[in-house]
Amino acid sequence: MPIRKAIIPAAGLGTRMLPATKSVPKEMLPLADRPTIQYIVEEAVASGIQHITMITSRVKRALEDYFDDAPELRAVLERKGDTAALEMLDHTSRMAQFSFTRQHEPRGLGHAVLVARDLMGAEPFGVLLGDDLVDHPERPCLRQLMDVHERHGGCVIAVMRVPREQISRYGIAAIDSYGDLDARTHRVQGLVEKPSPEQAPSNLAVIGRYVLTPSIFDVLEQTPPGRGGEIQLTDALHTLGQSEPVYAYEFEGTRYDTGDPVGLITTSLAYALQRPDLAPGIRAYLRTLRLD
Ligand code: G1P
Repeated sequence: MPIRKAIIPAAGLGTRMLPATKSVPKEMLPLADRPTIQYIVEEAVASGIQHITMITSRVKRALEDYFDDAPELRAVLERKGDTAALEMLDHTSRMAQFSFTRQHEPRGLGHAVLVARDLMGAEPFGVLLGDDLVDHPERPCLRQLMDVHERHGGCVIAVMRVPREQISRYGIAAIDSYGDLDARTHRVQGLVEKPSPEQAPSNLAVIGRYVLTPSIFDVLEQTPPGRGGEIQLTDALHTLGQSEPVYAYEFEGTRYDTGDPVGLITTSLAYALQRPDLAPGIRAYLRTLRLD
């Protein structure tokens, strides 16, 4: 079944980005001149997703406004004859069909996915986490996972190898043997959320892109709170993996973590340097820096 729908969990409080996130959703913080969420939505759309469900919470209304039409702004731009800005405005609100649904309590990523159960129905779907950006201009990360799902079925998780000292920041996959399906695709034997390096079954870290089958919902319903007292998607995938295939796919592309100030600034620089309209000014500034 082709994948048409995706969930973007966006209910988190964004405490690593305080004080900005006291009144601005972290998904609205910009990378160059676009909010982070725009890059995530563009990846989903470029992968073939038509319907996006965002899981939000209080203080996240700006997300709904951002993907809605803006008639007052449109009228001003029309008067000015600013066609480039008008095109950008239309593109943002018409890229996909958007739904917004609220997670009333912060009960974890697994619970956030469960909130969208009715909207996903009986179809496989994608999940994109807003803190992870993967740059691969030809084949977006979610598309890569969708291709694996089309070949093998089952759930597919994006993974990358991380250094030992970073293991405890991620969900970690246990696999049987490397490259049992192809060089990048491995059958998952188990998953553990944020283990210590000593307890980790590998260094294959889960990055925020998933293709999930609807069977995940029954498992999530039964998943008790795990790490941090939250309902973890990692735990539900571990359980589902005992009865259905779950694949780990070592994606192609450069991954950026935008979840903290250093990550946000470096990602912003990386994306701005790819933009012909912004790069010259940024390069000129960087050349003036005397770094040790
Ligand atoms: C979430 C997942 C974790 C995954 C990570 C990727 O954790 O629970 O398994 O490795 O995203 O960014 P979070 O960073 O939201 O705590």
